[in-house]
Amino acid sequence: MTTQLLTTSERDLERAAAIIRSGGLVAIPTETVYGLGANGLDPEAVKKIFLAKGRPQDNPLILHIHDASQLSDFCRELPETALLLARSFWPGPLTMILPVRDCVPKTTTAGLDTVGVRCPDNEATRTIIRLAGVPIAAPSANTSGKPSTTTAAHVLHDMDGKIDAIVDGGPCRVGVESTIVDLTGPVPRLLRPGGSGPERLRELLGELVIDRAVTGEIAADAVVRAPGMKYKHYAPAAEVLIVEGSAEAAARWVRERFEPGDAVLCFAEELPLYEGCNPRAYGLEADPATLSAGLFAALRALDDGSVKRIFARCPTGGGVSVATRNRLRKSAGFRTVNAEPDP
Ligand code: TXA
Ligand code: MG
Repeated sequence: MTTQLLTTSERDLERAAAIIRSGGLVAIPTETVYGLGANGLDPEAVKKIFLAKGRPQDNPLILHIHDASQLSDFCRELPETALLLARSFWPGPLTMILPVRDCVPKTTTAGLDTVGVRCPDNEATRTIIRLAGVPIAAPSANTSGKPSTTTAAHVLHDMDGKIDAIVDGGPCRVGVESTIVDLTGPVPRLLRPGGSGPERLRELLGELVIDRAVTGEIAADAVVRAPGMKYKHYAPAAEVLIVEGSAEAAARWVRERFEPGDAVLCFAEELPLYEGCNPRAYGLEADPATLSAGLFAALRALDDGSVKRIFARCPTGGGVSVATRNRLRKSAGFRTVNAEPDP
C-alpha cells in the first residue's frame, strides 16, 4: 500500500477521518508522540495496528476521544476522581484507566475489563476524532521496541507502506508519552510517568501509589498492570549506558573509556566537555521540557548503524523529567554507572 502524506487542512482532516471510518490506519499527531490510529470500536481495524507495529497482542491500546463528555460512552463507572482529572488535565498528556463498557472490543483492551482513555491536546487530531464519529485507538506510531515517533518523518521511516496515511502536525511539543493513572483500584496508581508531572496528580488526588513498573526493571513474565511496561522499549540498536554524576566527573569517566563507534547523548550545556567524542545534545539541562521534547529524535538519530555504544546523561528533578528519566533508563535496559570518584 502507498502511505499518503496529509496536512492539517480541513480537507485532509476529512480524508483522515474517512480512512478511519472505513477501517484503515492513520498516524495522528498528538502533543506527546504520534499515534497509530484506527477505529477503536472495530476489531478488524484494530488488528491492523498490531500487525503494522509488530506489537504483542496482550498489550492494550489507549482510546482517544475529542471531549471529556465521551468518557461515559466507553467507561462503565466514572469515579469522582476521573471527572476531576479530566477537568484539570484535558485536553492533555494524561491517560486514565477505567472500567470498560462492552461496546469496546476485546482487541482494543487486550481482553482486560478496563480501558485507557485520553483526550489529546492537538486540535487537528481532536477534529479527526470528531469527524470520524468514533474513538480512535492508538498506540505510539513506532515499530514495537523502538523509540516513539515525534515527527511525521519518524513515522514514515517506521510505517511507510504499512499504513494508509500520516497526518503531519509538525514536531510533538511534549515528546514523551502520556502519564497513565489507574483509577480502578481503591487508591489511584501511577502506571507510567509521562507528560503530566506526578506532583500535580498527587496534589489533586491526595493519594497516589507509584507502581513498581515505573521505577524498576520488570521481568518479561511478571504480572504488571500496564502490560506495555514489561517490554524492551525505546531501544536503539546501540547499547545505551547512563552516566551519572557531575558534568565534570561524567565527562572524565567517558573520555577515559571512549572508543571509535561510541557516541555521547548529553545536555547542550555539556557539549564542550565532549569535544571529539561524537556528542549529540537532546536539549538544555536548564529547560527540562526541551529534554523530553528532544529525547526520542536524538535516540533515533543515533540509531544509524554506525554507533555501537551511547553514553547518556540523564536529567534529575521532577515534572516531565520523571518521564524523560524513565524512558532513558528503559532504553539503557537500566544500565547505569556513577562517575563520581569514591569518597
Ligand atoms: O501519549 C500517549 O499515551 C501515546 C499517544 C499516541 O496518545 N500513546 C501511547 O500508547 O503511548 P502506547 O500503546 O504506546 O502505550 C500505552 C500504554 C501501554 O504500556 C499499555 O500497556 C498501557 O498503556 N495500557 C493501555 N490500556 C491499558 C489498560 N486498560 N490497563 C493498563 N494499561 C494499559
Ligand atoms: Mg508505545
